Amino acid sequence: MIRNTRSAYGTIAIALHWTIATLIIAMLCFGLYMVTLPTFDPQTFTYYQLHKSVGFVVLGLVALRILWKITSITPNLPEQMPAWEKIAAHLGHLALYALMLVMPISGWLLVSSSPLGLPSVFFNLFEIPHLPTPEFFGQKADVSAFFSSVHGWAAYAFIAVIIAHAGAAFKHYFISKDNVLQRMLSSKS
Ligand code: HEM
Ligand code: HEM
Repeated sequence: MIRNTRSAYGTIAIALHWTIATLIIAMLCFGLYMVTLPTFDPQTFTYYQLHKSVGFVVLGLVALRILWKITSITPNLPEQMPAWEKIAAHLGHLALYALMLVMPISGWLLVSSSPLGLPSVFFNLFEIPHLPTPEFFGQKADVSAFFSSVHGWAAYAFIAVIIAHAGAAFKHYFISKDNVLQRMLSSKS
């Protein structure tokens, strides 16, 4: 089943969920490792280019996912779930969607406003243009530092929300014993 129904996720939503989740978790680990490397080293430059390229792939997939989400129905949460848990689940999903956008866009803005002016070359194939960015009092470096701290803090917020989200999924499986985790694993459950 390709599309979602009132009780199950379809294959497209499931494939997008797990592809994006894997890429984001890898990017969070890689990003945190990458910033510990010596700044002006050719290997660091290669790693940054790889980080940016995968980040653009994530942005494209997230855009597709949001399009798919708004043109599909979302399966209902189990009826026996308390109202506060349903609200928490919706707020958690909203935070995940917001962070999926904030992460790559803040990354793009931070390189676009960087005084270093380094290009972003998509997997060594072609250059992705910089975004137009505002200049606070004519200071490019301040704008870049601002987006850099948004990117960094959003990463920590993301890690916290992912841990809570995965914890909730396991709580459904082991404690509530409903099919919430299984239905994100297979469209047949
Ligand atoms: C899913 C998307 C992304 C994730 C999860 C992610 C994650 C991270 C993380 C965890 C760091 C280390 C933060 C720190 O400790 O300061 C980082 C740094 C960085 N990221 Fe990303 N990133 C993403 C997308 C992008 C994109 C699209 C770009 C640029 C086009 C980008 C450019 C950078 C740069 C230049 C740094 C170095 C730190 C800095 O200058 O502030 N990132 N990223
Ligand atoms: C970067 C990592 C992740 C992101 C960004 C993410 C994002 C999301 C979002 C936005 C939804 C709501 C789907 C929708 O209706 O549109 C969702 C659902 C779900 N996620 Fe994740 N997720 C991540 C990782 C995980 C992990 C590691 C697990 C399990 C261990 C998991 C289990 C689930 C389950 C079971 C659902 C279905 C909830 C329901 O039926 O309403 N996710 N995820």
